Amino acid sequence: MKGKAFIAILLALATLTGCSDGNVSSNIPSQPDFSTTTDTAATETVPAENTEPSEETTTVPSDTTPPPAAEETTAETEATETTPVETDTIWTESPVQDTVMYVNTECYSRKDAFIGAEAVELYYINDEVNVVATTDTDYYKLDNGAFIHMDYLSESKTEITTTTTAATPAQPTGEGIEVINGITYVQGIMIANKTYALPSDYNPGVSSEAYNALIEMEYAAANEGITLFLNSGFRSYSDQYVIYNRYVSWDGKAEADRYSARPGHSEHQTGYAFDLNSFEESFGETPEGIWLAENCHKYGFIIRYPKGKEHITGYMYEPWHVRYLGVDIATSVYESGLTLEEYLGITSVYAD
Ligand code: DAL
Ligand code: ZN
Repeated sequence: MKGKAFIAILLALATLTGCSDGNVSSNIPSQPDFSTTTDTAATETVPAENTEPSEETTTVPSDTTPPPAAEETTAETEATETTPVETDTIWTESPVQDTVMYVNTECYSRKDAFIGAEAVELYYINDEVNVVATTDTDYYKLDNGAFIHMDYLSESKTEITTTTTAATPAQPTGEGIEVINGITYVQGIMIANKTYALPSDYNPGVSSEAYNALIEMEYAAANEGITLFLNSGFRSYSDQYVIYNRYVSWDGKAEADRYSARPGHSEHQTGYAFDLNSFEESFGETPEGIWLAENCHKYGFIIRYPKGKEHITGYMYEPWHVRYLGVDIATSVYESGLTLEEYLGITSVYAD
């Protein structure tokens, strides 16, 4: 099965930003346990009893919040998930007997049962939840009234290893490259690519500066009739471990390496990367994708994996993936027409 299809299925419904200053839970659960050594990977099995509806109800979601006028928008806008998504999505709920399940990747529960619905609470791998209903949108309803997509819930806990895919330690190899606490900076820019890995315990959450810039960009886009919304933000090493290994199991390592970073090598672990709107290549040709490519530098972002540059960046075209660099550097990279690797004079190649 082709990876891109699964990207849409998996990531679009998965890890939204692990925002350290965001709108969601003020009661953040503890971090996942990295101490175990066997990976059985997250299952996607739905308990049989969950699939038997005993009763059906139809639910209409509440309104989404309209974006404010441009003059009200500032970088200091509080970092709440104010995704300007309009939807008339309706789903059907089928109550089930209270069923304990476990979150298998870092993700947010949603106020409503559809992609892009308002985030409610951040969950980490192996958090326990009680499922009280299924829906025809494949979201499961929890006993607190929020929803999580079925792909991110498992019957049993996920065991995680960090021993078999240990990232290659970063080595300073050129001018302007320095390694601080195992993290590589090139000309002061934190780098995570195929050549340079992050430590497995580097778990900063989303950068509040990058997140505020994202919100500012979303508002600016909305004022031009362009809807941008966040699909995936910060991903921890263990999140990426689960995601990458799923893709390997589906597509094989060589193919997975073209579109999914090995754990430790994902820019999402820096806290400076966001995936917006769609995981389809065709997103780049939509008004939203075109707007993003032409304007994101004004808010400090670059399209990190441009078309036709896989041999340089190491990854296929991803018109949805933006990396925050700050306005000055992002504008400079944009105007250069170069990839970040070319701009900084670095490679993106796995050692093995
Ligand atoms: N899809 C990008 C390369 C990642 O996995 O970080
Ligand atoms: Zn991405």
